[in-house]
This record gives sequence, structure tokens and C-alpha cells, in this order.
Amino acid sequence: MNKQVNLLTLADGQKMPQEGFGMYKITDQATITSAMKYAYDAGYRLFDTAQLYKNEAEVGTALKELALPREELFITTKVAEPNQGFKQTIASVKDSLHKLQLDDVNLLLIHWPIERAFFDTWAALEELKKEGLTRSIGVSNYQMIHLQYLATQAHEMPVVNQIERHPRLSQQPLLDYDKAHNIVTQAWSPLGRGTILNNPLLEEIAAAHNKSTAQVVLRWHLQSGVAFIPKSVHEARIKQNIDIYDFSLSDQEMAKINSLHDFTRVGKEPALVYEYNLKY
Ligand SMILES: NC(=O)c1ccc[n+]([C@@H]2O[C@H](COP(=O)([O-])OP(=O)(O)OC[C@H]3O[C@@H](n4cnc5c(N)ncnc54)[C@H](OP(=O)(O)O)[C@@H]3O)[C@@H](O)[C@H]2O)c1
Repeated sequence: MNKQVNLLTLADGQKMPQEGFGMYKITDQATITSAMKYAYDAGYRLFDTAQLYKNEAEVGTALKELALPREELFITTKVAEPNQGFKQTIASVKDSLHKLQLDDVNLLLIHWPIERAFFDTWAALEELKKEGLTRSIGVSNYQMIHLQYLATQAHEMPVVNQIERHPRLSQQPLLDYDKAHNIVTQAWSPLGRGTILNNPLLEEIAAAHNKSTAQVVLRWHLQSGVAFIPKSVHEARIKQNIDIYDFSLSDQEMAKINSLHDFTRVGKEPALVYEYNLKY
């Protein structure tokens, strides 16, 4: 395991790298294999995929072709909305494992909260953990209200909540709630999908540390105590995004970055997903 990436201990005792590698919108085999090789060589051990990304089979092929040691890896996948429901979730996760060519994943998430099968899907995740097909179970895009509602029927609670987070959406109240309930927050689109990287304040801070704005943003996540999963297909950026362990931001710089928060999302608002008729 790369010495620089911190390991977080989840509420169920499993260790999860604080920084991981996002795999949304990487779909062709050659790009997946090369990106995973660059990422592994640079020190990433956590790979984040999902049924929705339609790349689980390619990730599985890359894992085999690159002969990456399973015991070093932390693999996450997510149950897509059409597969929610007790039986459907179990069948879909077995299919994901088949595609990934794995006996288990480290972390299985419900991708988005939807009202249909809200509790049944979670019950399926609890069952899949019991059967040893996933080591940890968690959720994605859950707001406080979803977590509180889940707690009314869950036998065990999620250990991770993967949510959109970047400087324009700092999510402080949800971070505080997750922390108080022993749930690790993991930031998706940690770079705001690249939309925030030309911000003048970030450029000023980056220049002062001789780093890129992407590195400053990822360091901000690190010092905020959340997990985060930047995506890139370019070797130089993949390396750059994990080269954030040799500088630190002052309290004043952290506060300045926090001040960029203005509720801007790059993805959908989870509380409105019901209204999108299961679409997001
Ligand atoms: N749970 C959910 O609902 C959910 C939703 C969205 C995403 N995710 C997960 O979170 C991961 C990350 O989110 P994301 O892919 O949406 O966005 P992101 O990681 O915030 O940003 C990725 C974008 O930034 C560019 N980029 C990366 N590093 C850069 C750098 N150093 N300098 C300049 N540009 C850079 C990438 O381009 P290049 O690739 O061209 O370098 C890409 O366009 C996803 O891949 C996925 O695994 C989860």
C-alpha cells in the first residue's frame, strides 16, 4: 500500500484509503487498462465503479491483465436504480461480481436514494454482506433525511456516504451529521468535474505552494477529513492528483476555500430525484 495515502477505519472495522480513483465515463478497455495502470503505479488502491458506468467488465479485465494483487485493492461498486429491490439487487450484484471477476467487493453502495424499494434494497445489501459478497455496505447521495429514515428499519447502518462535494458545495452540515453517526463521507466530483479549476482564489493559493489548483482542492478535501475519488484518464494528472502529501494549507487558506461554497452542484439534487421519476 502506498505509504502516503491515509487509511480510514470504517465503523465496521474495514480500512479504506482516504484517496481513491474515480472511474465514471471511462468505458473503453484500452483507456481503462492504461488509467488503472497509471493509477496503481502512482499509489491509488481504491477503484470506484458502478453498475451505471457500464465498465465493470472492463475493470475486471484490467484487474486480470495488470495482475493487480487483490489483497492490496479496495474495489467499490454501486447498485443502479433499475436494479433496486431485494431480489433484483442480489441478482445484479452477483452479475457485477461476475463482470469484475471477483469473489467480493470491498464496498457496495446504493447509488441514489429512491422511494421505491428504499428499505428492501438496503436489506439486500445487509444480506449480501452476510453472504460475504461485499465486505462493507454504504450509500451514495443520501441526505440527512434519507439516513434518518433508513435508521428506522436498518439492522446496520451505512459506513460510507458518497456525495457530491467540492469547494462550491462544501456540504458542511451533512459532513457533521455523517461524522456524528460514524459514517465516512466520500466526495464524488471532488474537482467539481474540472469546472472550478480556473478560480482566481484557488489559482492564488496554488501559486503560493507551487502546486496546481487541482492539487490545492484535493488537499482541501484531505485536510477536511473526508475521503475523495478524483478521476482522470491522463497519466500526468493521475500522478499530480495523488502528489498532494508534501504541502499543507493554512487555516486561513482552508477558510478562504470554504468561502467559495455557494450551493452550486455539477450533479442532480438528491432530494429531487423522486421528482425526476427515478432519473438523475
Ligand atoms: N455516486 C455518485 O453519484 C457519483 C457521481 C459522479 C461521480 N462519482 C464518482 O466520483 C468520481 C469523480 O467524479 P467526476 O469524474 O465526476 O469528477 P472529478 O473527479 O471532480 O473531475 C474529473 C474531471 O476533471 C478533469 N481533471 C482531473 N484531474 C485534473 C487535473 N489535475 N487538472 C485538470 N483537470 C483535471 C478530468 O479530465 P481528464 O480525465 O481528461 O483528465 C475530468 O474531466 C467519478 O469518476 C465516479 O467514480 C460518483
